[in-house]
Amino acid sequence: MAEPPTNPLAAPLPDGIVPAEVVARTEQRWIKMMAAMLLIMLVVIVATGIAGAMHPPSNVEVIDPTTLHLRGEFVESNLGTAAQPDGSVTVRLIAQQYEFVPRCVTVPAGTPVMFRLTSADVVHGFLLPDTNVNTMVVPGFVAEVRTRFANEGEYAMPCHEFCGLGHHAMWAHVRVVPKEWFASLTAVQRTHCE
Ligand code: CUA
Repeated sequence: MAEPPTNPLAAPLPDGIVPAEVVARTEQRWIKMMAAMLLIMLVVIVATGIAGAMHPPSNVEVIDPTTLHLRGEFVESNLGTAAQPDGSVTVRLIAQQYEFVPRCVTVPAGTPVMFRLTSADVVHGFLLPDTNVNTMVVPGFVAEVRTRFANEGEYAMPCHEFCGLGHHAMWAHVRVVPKEWFASLTAVQRTHCE
């Protein structure tokens, strides 16, 4: 009597089941399909990274989430849109269960905009559809994203990381207005979309 093979996978298939050549051919096809899919995804990642400035957030900057409201960059009076001397704009926001503070910010079109966000409690998400803005907002870290709005209009800003029972209701807005209009707004109007 022959020794049974030690590896059951190496044993020939019993009669009546799919022949080994067919199995081998099917496996080859799957391997080729998977390789093609990986290649397509890789091309998409590289292409959107170059053409659309889509890339993983890389800002590593720590902050104490327990004192956000008391001192430092994210005190209430410093939140919202701030025009910089070089003509660009910086927007500071706090994400917390279940709102962004402030709930609406105004920025000028065709201008470099830097968003700086941090969380006061749990992980939230910061996403502006149809732009390159998409990042997590992790407590203890400052999320920084740069963009430029080509078109005027109102961008919805949903929290897209599940953060608790009120997650679905956590929205804010970014209002993009013409440059000249932005220049005529007061600091309060820029931060409250009035
Ligand atoms: Cu905040 Cu989901």
